[in-house]
Amino acid sequence: MNSNHIILKTKALNKHFQDGASVTHAVSDVNLSISEGEYLSLTGESGSGKSTLLAMLGLIEQPTSGAVFLAGVDTTPLSTQAKAAIRNKYLGFVFQSFHLVPTLSVYDNVALPLRYSSNIPVSDHEKATLHVLELLGIKDLALKCPDKLSGGQQQRVAIGRALVTSPKLILADEPTGNLDSKNSDIIKGLLNEIHQMGTTIIVVTHEPAFAALAQRQINMVNGQIQSAR
Ligand SMILES: Nc1ncnc2c1ncn2[C@@H]1O[C@H](COP(=O)(O)OP(=O)(O)OP(=O)(O)O)[C@@H](O)[C@H]1O
Ligand SMILES: [Mg+2]
Repeated sequence: MNSNHIILKTKALNKHFQDGASVTHAVSDVNLSISEGEYLSLTGESGSGKSTLLAMLGLIEQPTSGAVFLAGVDTTPLSTQAKAAIRNKYLGFVFQSFHLVPTLSVYDNVALPLRYSSNIPVSDHEKATLHVLELLGIKDLALKCPDKLSGGQQQRVAIGRALVTSPKLILADEPTGNLDSKNSDIIKGLLNEIHQMGTTIIVVTHEPAFAALAQRQINMVNGQIQSAR
């Protein structure tokens, strides 16, 4: 791992939402460089643009203008299909609201991204899925559907799904937002472990103590990066 290698970079990134005559500048002119292996936290008041920025970094949301470079590749001109391919190779995304598939078991939810990624050979899919279930302490829940789980358990499934393809980069939007302190500590510990293994992590959180666990902290105000340390 080369810590000077830039894995993710944005150039004058903007996202505006138009609603009739009014425009919301959700993200304004964000320039950010993230090195491979870095652990970065993103804080800011509700509505400051954290989720919108994270979704653009994860190639989920299309920028209004500006560019996102992933592993040196300018993703701006890529087709939706090409973006999905690059996302499945490099990225694991933990959504603020889980986004689990209600009709699939815990096992199948966690295993799902393996179908779309070539990182892990098919013969190792079961092993990779069981490894992640074990790591997250949800192996006993493998056959249950998400609606039978607590918030903390669902959050772990969502994290498992982001981890299963062994991505270089994990983007997590408030992964402890709905959890009690015990489950929250488990998730923080897991992210630390994943970081120790060399994964780059960007986490959005409202908790100052969580943000402080990261090597670099960025605070957003009105769609702009206000301070970085
Ligand atoms: N799809 C959308 N359509 C219109 N406006 C949107 C959309 N998504 C976000 N916004 C607006 O963009 C701004 C930033 O929203 P965003 O969800 O990025 O904030 P956030 O910092 O993640 O907030 P929270 O801490 O509550 O999750 C808000 O004013 C929001 O209302
Ligand atoms: Mg948000």
